[in-house]
Amino acid sequence: MRVLFVCLGNICRSPTAEGVLRHKLREAGLAARVEVDSAGTGDWHVGKAPDTRTGQAALRRGYDLSALRARQVSAEDFARFDLILAMDASNLRHLERLRPSGGGAELDLFLRRYQLALDEVPDPYYGGEAGFEQVLDLIEQAGDALVRELRERL
Ligand code: 4NP
Repeated sequence: MRVLFVCLGNICRSPTAEGVLRHKLREAGLAARVEVDSAGTGDWHVGKAPDTRTGQAALRRGYDLSALRARQVSAEDFARFDLILAMDASNLRHLERLRPSGGGAELDLFLRRYQLALDEVPDPYYGGEAGFEQVLDLIEQAGDALVRELRERL
């Protein structure tokens, strides 16, 4: 199985989801069976490490994002991945436009797929510290549900 998380910049929400899911898959003994990656719909931060605030908040919960580098999502990702999970509705619309006819990866909104309290992971970039904690809270909850789904599907 190959899973791709997508947000706008690939420096806050989707690298957090990548790091959290990798960690949860290791704990579940599934790390060798699921490939995880993340990308952004925008290209402003390509090649950059995650936002410092994102990296520090993640590290406080035991997720090391320091090796990750931003990249932009491409149409080829629909052939490379089985499941592409968007962080918000705007990301999802962008991916629907990018998707080649003929399909490929299943596309969904990450939180909505698991019926959490919110449908979208709010963009923390222009907000304060609490936004980065909320991103982690939501992604940890949805990540648990995703690991359960992957365990059933593998
Ligand atoms: P992300 O957050 O989509 O979660 O990586 C953002 C990062 C950068 C910008 C917006 C959102 N930006 O406008 O540069």
